[in-house]
Amino acid sequence: MEKRLIYSLVLLNFFCCKIIAFDVKYIWKWGVVMKLPDYTKAKMRKDKNENVISYNIDKSLIGKYKGKKFFLKTYGCQMNEHDSENLCAMLLELGFKQTDNYEDSDLILLNTCSIRENAHNKAFGMLGRVKHLKETKKDLIVGICGCMAQEKVVVDKILDKYKYVNFVIGTHNMDHLPYIVDKAINTGLQEVEVYSEELDLVEDMPLKRDTTYKAYVNIIYGCDKFCTYCIVPFTRGRQRSRKKEYILKEINKLIKDGYKEVTLLGQNVNAYGKDLYDGYSFSDLLRDVAETKIERIRFVTSHPWDFTDEMIDMIAKYPNIMPSVHLPVQSGSSRILKLMGRRYTKEDYLELFKKLKDKVKNIAISTDIIVGFPGEDEEDFLETLSLVNECKFDNAFTFIYSKREGTAACKLLDEVPIEEKEERLQRLNNLVNKYFLENNKKLVGKVEKVLVEGISKKKNHYFGYTEGNKLVNFTGNDVEVGSIVPVKIMDAKTWSLDGEVDG
Ligand code: SAH
Ligand code: SF4
Ligand code: F3S
Repeated sequence: MEKRLIYSLVLLNFFCCKIIAFDVKYIWKWGVVMKLPDYTKAKMRKDKNENVISYNIDKSLIGKYKGKKFFLKTYGCQMNEHDSENLCAMLLELGFKQTDNYEDSDLILLNTCSIRENAHNKAFGMLGRVKHLKETKKDLIVGICGCMAQEKVVVDKILDKYKYVNFVIGTHNMDHLPYIVDKAINTGLQEVEVYSEELDLVEDMPLKRDTTYKAYVNIIYGCDKFCTYCIVPFTRGRQRSRKKEYILKEINKLIKDGYKEVTLLGQNVNAYGKDLYDGYSFSDLLRDVAETKIERIRFVTSHPWDFTDEMIDMIAKYPNIMPSVHLPVQSGSSRILKLMGRRYTKEDYLELFKKLKDKVKNIAISTDIIVGFPGEDEEDFLETLSLVNECKFDNAFTFIYSKREGTAACKLLDEVPIEEKEERLQRLNNLVNKYFLENNKKLVGKVEKVLVEGISKKKNHYFGYTEGNKLVNFTGNDVEVGSIVPVKIMDAKTWSLDGEVDG
């Protein structure tokens, strides 16, 4: 069976498209293609740490596509946004220019997200629009990357129904983008290059940051938690911490370049170091980053299970670590948390929450909540509402459970009707919104330090974020974008504050 599959894939490779999804050595040695994205492999966890290699691009490719334009669309989380900064820089290196108008481009690249069905739908919706364009623009190159590229169901669908997509490239080999673009343009074949196992970590990737004052910095890739509803451990692979030397070097360079804020990125930053060091943990990294003296440090996302007292002490100790933590709870019912594989109970969460509130002055805590997980009944949902009433979150991202192919929760009987899930989401949103406004109102009359991010259309109107990560629209004279200014809060809304520069 396996032999027949390999044989037909090799044939397929010769006749219509090229699929690479296997160990890197095989490809290098034989140039042969063996498998599509494979969840059994994607699920495998090994002890050894990955090697680190430097990004490398063939000189002949630099500037080769001068005069051509690319359109890059990003879906999903900050991780993807940051990846897009790399993707963008690689395309610029090839000579492409960026355009905001996909109809005007020669290359369309969709950096996709798999987290919920609607993220899928958005990307496929965009592909529908691209199809029309491709009918009139035959040379247009269309590529898919990001988490959806790691999903077998997606790649199967693309091979079957979206033959006009020129290439698919996975999350583990993003640095191969220049080569796959070049091949797709020159061969005209459909190229699929998706590895189900993680490759070496690549340092020194080109990067075109979105702003000159705040920056994302990757500290850990992948996720080993396997919460039963979540696709991330399959699409992003196992947990791999980036060496602290590279992280600190990047941050020191950012300081030199005038950056004010870094956000340390990972699916679960609190697990930092566990796969790499004996004893050096996220709290140590927080301390070392704080000691660089960068003005603002943020981090996302924190899994409650890995949150240690040392981390809390570190946040409390350093004024440049922002008093703002995103702490996804997912549900307030311990029974549902167990089914979700979250490894904490409602009581554990509340205890951690209280510790953070007690120890870190003025801390703002935000969360993620899923409603309608398989088996969630009214009683479980009321537990979630009661937890919200206790925690009074500063912000919350709320979602209806979305079944993801290949995850453990997929096998659970999901009997809650969609109307009921929608109704629960509405009740939950009404409650969380009430607390956003209540918390915001407490800031009225206070002076908050705001990192200025932009200028509004109206003269002398600006916006930016407080230390607690609250959006403020404010007035002032000649305020510089990228500076940190004191702003007096004059009014509070549910999702933002109004203010004026103080003094
Ligand atoms: N690594 C982070 C969050 C990653 S995904 C953490 O574990 O905290 C961001 C959020 O999407 C999750 O916190 C969860 O609330 C939501 N999410 C993930 N999978 C989902 C699914 N299958 N259906 C609905 N929401 C989901
Ligand atoms: Fe998904 Fe859980 Fe990992 Fe977060 S911690 S990425 S929810 S598996
Ligand atoms: Fe989505 Fe992948 Fe991020 S699934 S949430 S883009 S890690």
